Amino acid sequence: MKKILFASSETHPLIKTGGLADVAGSLPRALHELEQDIRIIMPNYQGIKNCEPGRYVCTVRVSNNDVHILETRLPDSDIIVWLVDYPPFFNHPGNPYTDENGAPWPNIGDRFALFCRIVAEVAMDRAYLHWRPDVIHCNDWQTGLVPALLSLEEHRPATVFTIHNMAYQGLFPASAQAQLNLPGQLWRPDGLEYHGMLSFIKGGLAFADWITTVSPTYAQEIQTPEFGYGLEGLLAYRRDNLTGILNGIDTDIWNPETDPHLSRRYSASDLDGKQANKLELQQRLGLPTNADIPLFGLIGRLVEQKGIDLVLSCLPEIAQRPMQFVLLGSGDKSIELRLQDFARLYPQNIAITIGYNEPLAHQIEAGADIFLMPSRFEPCGLNQMYSQRYGTLPIVRRTGGLADTVTDALPETLANRSASGFSFNDPAPSALLEAIKRSLLLYSDKNTWRKLQQNAMGKEFSWRLSASRYLDLYQSL
Ligand code: ADP
Ligand code: GLC
Repeated sequence: MKKILFASSETHPLIKTGGLADVAGSLPRALHELEQDIRIIMPNYQGIKNCEPGRYVCTVRVSNNDVHILETRLPDSDIIVWLVDYPPFFNHPGNPYTDENGAPWPNIGDRFALFCRIVAEVAMDRAYLHWRPDVIHCNDWQTGLVPALLSLEEHRPATVFTIHNMAYQGLFPASAQAQLNLPGQLWRPDGLEYHGMLSFIKGGLAFADWITTVSPTYAQEIQTPEFGYGLEGLLAYRRDNLTGILNGIDTDIWNPETDPHLSRRYSASDLDGKQANKLELQQRLGLPTNADIPLFGLIGRLVEQKGIDLVLSCLPEIAQRPMQFVLLGSGDKSIELRLQDFARLYPQNIAITIGYNEPLAHQIEAGADIFLMPSRFEPCGLNQMYSQRYGTLPIVRRTGGLADTVTDALPETLANRSASGFSFNDPAPSALLEAIKRSLLLYSDKNTWRKLQQNAMGKEFSWRLSASRYLDLYQSL
């Protein structure tokens, strides 16, 4: 049995802004089921909910600050979650990265540097928790300093660093190095320095014993300039210690047969229930109720990554057709405004909900016919897997995890029953439009569509396989 400390800046259902939280809330459960002793560590944000209040367990002194560690559990499990409690940094309204108005925390570097120091202390069993992990599994830049700090320790645990997104690197001016009081040995071009700046993610990429990313295709892509953001050279250099392990999904939370957010549950053999969800969704969002009209859905952070601009370019043309489009998301204010303009222009066809709303996300997955995910890049992507499980066929750009999880509907994949959605290559509105037209053509053939839905719903997306890949990796280190 391995002792694993899983460090993440967000964990579902305690606090979530995106897919990292879903992974941090579900991979540890899967490893726990494989009988591993896995514990989660994250900051104690004011916004944490859905768990027992943390119980004080110890105080750790780092950089002249007394930091408390509180202990709670992941809901419906006995997985320990350690909450790093430092109220001056974490006891504020907002999310892990921004304040209530969406402005990034000005001291975000100080916050996550402190978090990393505490994780390193726990890793070295110097936090009075009487538990010494074999492996520290770090996730994204917020935990990047952990492998760097541990590289200076003798008899340290093994370190794994998972890249969920290369677009977020934790870059700060060089002066932050001194301000954060980081050991001087780490400041070098093959260490934390990145073109004269301090890079948190490089701490993971340069110092972790092993690097993983969340899909095999993304593992290749990030070794190229288009996806590597200047770190492709380092990643190519480390390619013998870099693997892509596809994310799984929590098949209990995302299950149309048991989903508590749906008024009608359904399965691959009873798709009538799906139609009831469609009618209800149309009603809830103020669209004309119509079981036959193709209903497109999109849920996500409204940022450049997600290719919303491609959707915006197609909307004038598709809104002329008999179709409906529902979107749930928040992010870039200019994208939000452009979307809302379209909704005003086409109130019969388009419904835009700006905000974060978990129940509605489930209802869109269930009620839509087709899910749009035309991402410019996508390390893994979870929504396209949720969609397939809900019989909502995804249209995706063939990149990263989208390429690894969606099988394009072509004559041969339709014949061998592997087709589960639609994909296109070019990040251009015309390519998306062409895929949309292909989907509409198949949608009009009810029999074929039903078969496609059944193919998609029957696909295996659970953590079973991927969790055992992580376990093999931990054992090999
Ligand atoms: P990313 O992590 O890049 O945002 P993923 O597809 O991996 O993309 O995961 C996104 C997760 O966040 C999904 O669980 C999705 O349902 C959820 N999500 C994104 N935006 C919203 C929103 N506005 N309301 C509810 N859930 C959302
Ligand atoms: C990131 C990526 C997304 C991935 C998620 C979980 O937020 O953007 O593609 O699914 O992390 O790994």
